Amino acid sequence: MSTVVLIGAQWGDEGKGKVTDFLAQQADMVVRYQGGNNAGHTVVARGRTFKLHLIPSGILHGDKMCLIGNGVVIDPAVLLQELDSLESQGISTANLRISPRAHVIFPYHKSIDMAEEEQKGNKRIGTTCRGIGPAYTDKASRAGIRVAELMDREELAEKLRDALEAKNKLLARVYGSEVQFDYREMLEQYNEYADRLRGYVDDVSILVNRAIDRGQKVLFEGAQGTLLDLDHGTYPYVTSSHPVAGAACLGAGLGPTKINTVVGVAKAYITRVGEGPFPTELHDRLGDHIRERGCEFGTTTGRPRRCGWFDAVIARYAARINGLSYLAITKLDVLSGLDTLKICTGYRYKGEVINEFPAGLKVLAQCEPVYREVPGWREDISGVRRYNDLPQNARDYIERIEEMAGVPVALVGVGPGREQTLVLQNIF
Ligand code: GDP
Ligand code: IMO
Ligand code: MG
Repeated sequence: MSTVVLIGAQWGDEGKGKVTDFLAQQADMVVRYQGGNNAGHTVVARGRTFKLHLIPSGILHGDKMCLIGNGVVIDPAVLLQELDSLESQGISTANLRISPRAHVIFPYHKSIDMAEEEQKGNKRIGTTCRGIGPAYTDKASRAGIRVAELMDREELAEKLRDALEAKNKLLARVYGSEVQFDYREMLEQYNEYADRLRGYVDDVSILVNRAIDRGQKVLFEGAQGTLLDLDHGTYPYVTSSHPVAGAACLGAGLGPTKINTVVGVAKAYITRVGEGPFPTELHDRLGDHIRERGCEFGTTTGRPRRCGWFDAVIARYAARINGLSYLAITKLDVLSGLDTLKICTGYRYKGEVINEFPAGLKVLAQCEPVYREVPGWREDISGVRRYNDLPQNARDYIERIEEMAGVPVALVGVGPGREQTLVLQNIF
């Protein structure tokens, strides 16, 4: 049995797409288990850049089964666009399967997402406005429409009628919105989507468990990151799903006894997009420098990402919440050329140093990072292919991270390309 769950150990955009694509070389199956097209996973392969939102990052290999589990929320328009775009670039999507238990995003979810953000004003979350929160809300309140119902014309006709009646009212009366949706139009549109997607629908739980029983290698690709988790993140500045490792079981339909290894992906620094507290955020020119050098602009929304120093309090927290076996540290190349680097080792709160990530947002907002300074390196490391060929100070930096996080580093990224990955330990 060889299963690996790969998760974001920070606030998302850690480079999960790239690391998934790298590990997928050895895997038979890649599975998305939560989130939706709020995710933007970049893979640079064969000299081309691919941005994937819903389809697992293993798709570029051609011969891997790629599954979208029940825990994902699917916008069929986006999924079809992604399928068309891959096919037009000569990448086969024949190995994609989607769970009939996954919930479907409708246009009213996006309108509600936007209306809620507008209503919150300066207390907004800074969501991706992709309808993710409202779709998960419907799921939890048992008002959602799943892929299974989408595929059944009669059921869809009935469920959509009920849903639209409620959502049009909600939009007009609660949010004062002028947006109203037409039932016939939407039904026709979604029937078309259903016809195009029908061939991809299959029982993901059965496929995953069979693959594991046959001894195949299965890689679970998390979206978002630990600090955006609905339970364990910086609530309410979080997403509405569970990006943590435990959710892989729930979101794909397998038991926890079937998971071997958990890999946390973290940048050599840290970023966040959207609102919410961020202790090591750099508001100065250094933050701008990292944003420019690291091309820190959102894959999904294009928004500039907030940048800061590596936070070992968060790394330890992610290690505990996810049970990390290894870390994959990405974007080490971005830190080249800085004289001194800082790693946050703890937080100073009301004069005392705390080492654990606090639950209270007010507490977190008042936390001052305690830094350890380490020397940087000047060399461009993007051409390095073996860990031992990195400058001594770069290796020392990685070793400090290992020591402070209490987790061994298995992979180091020195550029966006598949080949720009240094292997310290084999994961599969
Ligand atoms: P994800 O959401 O976790 O998959 O991450 P994103 O794709 O949203 O953002 C990560 C960005 O960093 C992408 O543009 C990647 O191509 C890029 N990237 C990933 N690893 C590295 C690395 O080691 N070095 C550099 N310079 N870029 C990287
Ligand atoms: P990947 O998989 C970074 C953030 C949004 C917002 C909050 C809630 O590419 O790492 P939502 O639309 O989910 O309700 O927004 O979560 N967010 C992400 N930030 N990377 C992501 O995905 C994200 N998905 C959502 O910016 O702060
Ligand atoms: Mg991303």
